[in-house]
Amino acid sequence: MAKVRIRNEGVEFEVPDNGQLMPYAKEKSNMLFGCGKGECGTCICSVSKGSENVNPKTQREELTLAKMAAYPTQRLACQIVIKKGEVEIEY
Ligand code: FES
Repeated sequence: MAKVRIRNEGVEFEVPDNGQLMPYAKEKSNMLFGCGKGECGTCICSVSKGSENVNPKTQREELTLAKMAAYPTQRLACQIVIKKGEVEIEY
């Protein structure tokens, strides 16, 4: 099990190794999601710690973030897979 901390909410929860963040974040935090497909940008966030423990950006995610003029460190939470270890996210 990996551990995820949502920094700005101060909540922590577990995600199975190699699990999608979105279903767990929906249940355990107030993070907002829209399309769930990396297209709408609603779920923009930053991985503030443990970026080595998440998947690389998907192609669709890269395109959406580019349209939003996002910072290189920003991600779309609906596209994040938590590989292992500890990850801290802020939105
Ligand atoms: S919910 Fe639409 S991009 Fe993540």
